[in-house]
Amino acid sequence: MQSSLTRRTFVQTMGIGAGAAAGLAALQADASEAAGGGIKIIGVACSPRRGKTTAQALAICLDATREVAPDTIETELIELADLEIPGYIAAGIPLKPGHKDDFGDVAAKLVDGRVRGILIGTPVYFGSMTSLCKAFLDRCFALRARKFALANKVGGVVAVGGVRNGGQELTIQCVQSALLCQEMIVVGDGRPTCHTGATVWNSGNDDISQDEFGVGTVKNLGRRVAEVALNRAAPSA
Ligand SMILES: Cc1cc2nc3c(=O)[nH]c(=O)nc-3n(C[C@H](O)[C@H](O)[C@H](O)COP(=O)(O)O)c2cc1C
Repeated sequence: MQSSLTRRTFVQTMGIGAGAAAGLAALQADASEAAGGGIKIIGVACSPRRGKTTAQALAICLDATREVAPDTIETELIELADLEIPGYIAAGIPLKPGHKDDFGDVAAKLVDGRVRGILIGTPVYFGSMTSLCKAFLDRCFALRARKFALANKVGGVVAVGGVRNGGQELTIQCVQSALLCQEMIVVGDGRPTCHTGATVWNSGNDDISQDEFGVGTVKNLGRRVAEVALNRAAPSA
């Protein structure tokens, strides 16, 4: 399915110019290539602040995925912080003069056949995801329209709030709704915490290390995404 998405049709769908097409070589990798080698899991950090708590949590989550199968799983963290992702393009509105659109380069990485898992991380902003996260998920509508290019990739969500119960669970569920619309395989944090996803508390000074429970959910989510991505049976104990 993913292999039927050609570089040319992808570029057209994304509404990006030929100049950006050079960055889309990854599209030429198809699922059959993935079958013979390792797999990749990507984390997308949707905070406007580069390297802060959401990125930190995703880095821990990606570490946990690699621990499941160090020789098989490769990871990459993509931070949207310094990128331009105009959400209005999802509604068919052309790129406005003076605006830049980096979505195509990110999307090209996600649709690669080797990518079997995608972790979305977002801060909690007023009880839900950031506008950057929503714009990114809205733009992924183009991938749905192109034969569900994200279908069957495993999806997990990390939400970081400034307080312990600041809306992390609702935020996770809102992101999960968008992933379900992509026909992705949505999972939560695995055992022993085993709920909707990674719920993290920035306990001050942009530090999540004090949040032992939250960091536990981050690790359990990473492990769970890796296990399902590798099509492994769930642990029996
Ligand atoms: C506009 C805004 C709204 C926020 N709303 C919430 C909220 O509703 N609940 C919460 O727990 N934290 C809230 N926060 C705090 C952030 O979620 C928290 O600082 C988070 O760690 C930021 O992620 P980052 O370090 O990756 O940027 C808000 C922060 C901002 C800037």
